Amino acid sequence: MIALSINGKTYNVDAESDTPLLWVLRDTVGLVGTKYGCGIAQCGACTVHINGVATRSCQVPVGTVGSKQITTIEGLAENGKMMAAASLLKQNAKPTDADIDAAMTNICRCGTYQRVRAAIHAASEHA
Ligand code: FES
Repeated sequence: MIALSINGKTYNVDAESDTPLLWVLRDTVGLVGTKYGCGIAQCGACTVHINGVATRSCQVPVGTVGSKQITTIEGLAENGKMMAAASLLKQNAKPTDADIDAAMTNICRCGTYQRVRAAIHAASEHA
């Protein structure tokens, strides 16, 4: 059994220590807001916060997490927000376009990068 702190609650999960955190979150804990996209740390669909840092959970063996605090999209806000954007705004309340481009490395098949940038600027006005 591995103890995990997820969204402020402790979960004891029965998983192999080398199982990616993504699959433990989705299949064992049932927090399916964290998505599978590529499985190779490229797309960002699986992003969670580990001790406040945006992290691609498909590349994190669950046995390496220990007592670190995991926050999933379900824990971020009732209606969900972007994990990487929330992490960026926590570190930099007024990011420039370049700051946003550097932090928002998620791959979006719809190509909405301009809208993502505009949304983060709008959110920063209310931070
Ligand atoms: S699933 Fe694409 S980065 Fe993890």
